[in-house]
Amino acid sequence: MTSRNRYTVMSNNLNPKTNPSQPPIYQIKVKGHLGQQWADWFEGLTITREEDGNTLLTGPVVDQSALYGLLKKVRDLGMTLLSVNGVHLDQTESPDVNQNFLLSNQNNLGGIRMKAIVYTKFGSPDVLEMKEVAKPTPKDNEVLIRIVATTVAAEDPGIRARPGLNGFLKPKKPILGFYLAGEVEAVGKDVKRFKKSDKVYGNTGLGLLGTYAEYICMPEEAALAMKPANITYEEAAALPNGALTALPFLRDKGKIKSGQKVLINGASGAVGTIAVQFAKYFGADVTGVCSTTNLEMVKSLGADKVIDYTQEDFTKNGQTYDIIFDTVGKSSFSGCKGSLTENGIYLTTVPSPATMIQMLWTSMTGGKKVGIAATGLRPSNEKTKELIFLNGLIETGKIKAVIDRSYPLEQIAEAHKYVEAGHKKGNVVITIDHNAKI
Ligand SMILES: NC(=O)c1ccc[n+]([C@@H]2O[C@H](COP(=O)([O-])OP(=O)(O)OC[C@H]3O[C@@H](n4cnc5c(N)ncnc54)[C@H](OP(=O)(O)O)[C@@H]3O)[C@@H](O)[C@H]2O)c1
Repeated sequence: MTSRNRYTVMSNNLNPKTNPSQPPIYQIKVKGHLGQQWADWFEGLTITREEDGNTLLTGPVVDQSALYGLLKKVRDLGMTLLSVNGVHLDQTESPDVNQNFLLSNQNNLGGIRMKAIVYTKFGSPDVLEMKEVAKPTPKDNEVLIRIVATTVAAEDPGIRARPGLNGFLKPKKPILGFYLAGEVEAVGKDVKRFKKSDKVYGNTGLGLLGTYAEYICMPEEAALAMKPANITYEEAAALPNGALTALPFLRDKGKIKSGQKVLINGASGAVGTIAVQFAKYFGADVTGVCSTTNLEMVKSLGADKVIDYTQEDFTKNGQTYDIIFDTVGKSSFSGCKGSLTENGIYLTTVPSPATMIQMLWTSMTGGKKVGIAATGLRPSNEKTKELIFLNGLIETGKIKAVIDRSYPLEQIAEAHKYVEAGHKKGNVVITIDHNAKI
């Protein structure tokens, strides 16, 4: 590396002495000449060939865990690590205080690990295994989150058991999990929305999954928001599933209005418990349909009326509704049509092929309509706006989480068995003990 290269890096104003809010610059020296083909592996670092035949990797490193991650990459790629230096403003290189530690632990860098539930084939809950895997390091636009709680959502067992949404021959993403709450442990240099120690919650989406783990890196523009102070991490992990589903269904598809009569079928599930509360918030007259054991719980969420589906068929009681929202997909449009008002709409989270055709057909005709959505596939910025909207309702006590059971991460297979039986009340939460042994 020439002295001009050195000056270039430091003139980026990333040195802690010139701007303490920016991450420090490190230089990692490895044996031999590395070409630019390694640029992807060391994203964010400048690769420079030294005259002595070795290579310098130079750039900002957010914190010690990111530094460990980089050094582990060096080891995993079979490179020989020669030195690690913090770079100072005076353009001299002084050994980082941790250098000796890092070098003496060069063969032990597998210590930068985390616990995660991994699956490598589709199948029964037993395919879920707790393993030690590499702890991720955030890219420039990412936040590293120490996960405190996640959930087993209704869709998780299906993604675990069958090819489809997460690959065909084997799972594309080996760590499942959509929802999380935790604390930001580190941020990449371009991150503006979050900082270290922020308490956050959100949804990773199908493209990332990965919340059955101690840590996750997510782009700052992912569906993340600050956790309201008046709820626990467990409640924060539980809320997005129902909220990010019920809100777009009721508000965007159903165009819910104050004074309307709204029926929520499956009012005791993760989506249903939030749908009842949203429908009340929007000023509707709400009927919740659930089984005998859940009648009191659904009433406590604000339902004006409850129907016990084991005793009464809501499609045959002569009542009509402006919106019928079947959150568990146990009914059909043809079965519910007689229970809709003249311009009423039938919404379902689990559309059959017939429902999809009916949705298209009714969108072109007057009268009763069908509405469906794939709410999980919406862009992150829409979900983030909804989480921020949700925060206001959580803080004023208008929306609360219903948690049925809570399991430690190591018992996640048990949680899957319970969820796939189809009778959970609200949410099943997974708590992550970072000190637990495998
Ligand atoms: N389209 C989308 O964008 C979207 C988004 C999210 C979720 N989903 C899907 O939506 C579905 C529901 O999700 P969820 O998380 O709310 O499910 P969930 O929490 O697993 O639902 C379980 C609840 O459903 C109730 N239930 C079972 N059979 C019923 C019936 N015949 N009538 C009324 N209630 C009944 C159960 O009560 P009892 O035990 O008392 O019967 C239980 O409390 C899942 O299939 C999920 O994959 C779709």
